[in-house]
Amino acid sequence: MKIGMWISGTLLLALTFSVMAMDQQAEANPLANSKPQETDEISFKRDVRPILHDYCVSCHSHGERGYLKSGLDLTSYQGVMKGTVYGKVVIPGNSEDSTFTKLLTGTNKGLKMPMGLNGSGTLERKYILTLRKWVKQGAKDN
Ligand code: HEC
Repeated sequence: MKIGMWISGTLLLALTFSVMAMDQQAEANPLANSKPQETDEISFKRDVRPILHDYCVSCHSHGERGYLKSGLDLTSYQGVMKGTVYGKVVIPGNSEDSTFTKLLTGTNKGLKMPMGLNGSGTLERKYILTLRKWVKQGAKDN
């Protein structure tokens, strides 16, 4: 009886430690379990800006309706990082909570960007992934 308890106690302890160790590993190297292409560095100038240029700046530049309504200017890195009149839209390293990337899949109060694109308003998946990756990698001015 005592031994049985001791064994299950030890097992629980061992389990706890291995889970903790796994957590630590994940923290130390967040890219450890990702596919090779996920480590490719996204460049703002080469990869992100052309997408914004093609799909966002028609509304998010001075005088246009996305800018007028929200103050968000997506024509430059500075504009993207400045965000709207209400606050930032990019949280470097966190694409799940950044409005900038959240709105691409329409998960923020029914608002979806780019507004009005091909009926469903969804950007091509590869572009969504590029923008997400850029935010995840720290939203650098590169
Ligand atoms: C057809 C016009 C249009 C296009 C194209 C467009 N937007 Fe917008 N966007 C708007 C308008 C209008 C608002 C203000 C919405 C509101 O506050 O009700 C807005 C607001 C936003 C906001 C702020 C939302 C908030 O929570 O305050 C973000 C972020 C955004 N757009 C990102 C983008 C991105 C990224 C693209 C390109 C992929 C894009 N938009 C393309 C019109 C557009």
